[in-house]
Amino acid sequence: MLPYFPFGQRFNDKMGTTPLAKTDRLLEVDSQYTSEIGLKRQLLAQLPSYYFQSLPGYELVQWEALDQILHKLVDTYPEHFSLTKQGTQWRWKNHLLAEESTFRFGDRASLPYAPLDWVGRQVQEDLVLVTGNEGQLVAGLLCFANDWSLDEKLGLPFWQIHEPINAIVEPMMRSAEHFMQRLPIGKSFWRANWSVKVSNQLDMSTRHLPALKQQLNDCLPQLTVDTIGDQLYVRVERQTLTRLPASDAILFTIHTYQNTLAHEAAHPDRAARMAQVFSTAPPALITYKSMTDFLPILLDYLQAKAKPGA
Ligand code: HEM
Repeated sequence: MLPYFPFGQRFNDKMGTTPLAKTDRLLEVDSQYTSEIGLKRQLLAQLPSYYFQSLPGYELVQWEALDQILHKLVDTYPEHFSLTKQGTQWRWKNHLLAEESTFRFGDRASLPYAPLDWVGRQVQEDLVLVTGNEGQLVAGLLCFANDWSLDEKLGLPFWQIHEPINAIVEPMMRSAEHFMQRLPIGKSFWRANWSVKVSNQLDMSTRHLPALKQQLNDCLPQLTVDTIGDQLYVRVERQTLTRLPASDAILFTIHTYQNTLAHEAAHPDRAARMAQVFSTAPPALITYKSMTDFLPILLDYLQAKAKPGA
């Protein structure tokens, strides 16, 4: 079952940001940790400059993000990670991977990769750094993107990043832009995004879109209420936002969770909530999420599953 299920009584046009309590996790380690870290590292080995990018001049911000992330990991999962420091000499132990690393904090030459690239290989989350009043995307380690890539968005301000959806959910995006500008230091927030996909491939970066589109087209003729549950996946992103105190930049993290539609719809309450949200979402948003072609069958399926005993 998905650990986050952002479906209520109907489509919600609010941005859905909630403060993280002190006891809530900023970053999450789950049973997929080893395989997802392995996949990330494989992608980064294949196309390093596609999956990690930074504008010049943001190395200090990357170090601050690394600092924040390592400390959060140790605080949350002391059984999995440890950090010891002697002056600027840091020793990092990742017990889940049986790895040990030493480096001089602030010294790029002491790490094998740029700081954000290095720390992104320790967590399942994708990591994005945003700066300034306009929320410019200045660096990112993005392996499991849902239909976008750093190539398209690096250097763009928040409003332009969201260009394809601003007109569809304009009040939400206006609130989100103000929210980003006012995000305080010392309090993290989280929200969740949803989509329904024909594949459970984690890396849905732009470069895979032609193949994914083809997969959807090939699958459409076979979709029926009897097959759809096993052919589609519910994909949920848990996103967090944290203002970094020294640089004033924002660390945006994205943890992708997914499950087959059938497993989620096996719970009548979940089936009902998905049906309510999908049927009340703006049609342009359904089209943006590439759900238009299968929406009628999806709704028939979910409405049947929503009946107790179905
Ligand atoms: C409160 C903060 C935010 C809100 C409310 C928000 C909302 C949204 C929504 C509604 C979508 C449409 C996708 C969907 O619903 O599945 C979206 C897409 C996206 N968001 Fe955000 N977002 C926020 C923060 C961010 C941040 C900080 C970044 C990175 C700098 C970001 C990058 C993106 C990108 C790249 C897309 C895909 C756009 C495309 O299709 O070209 N978002 N966002």
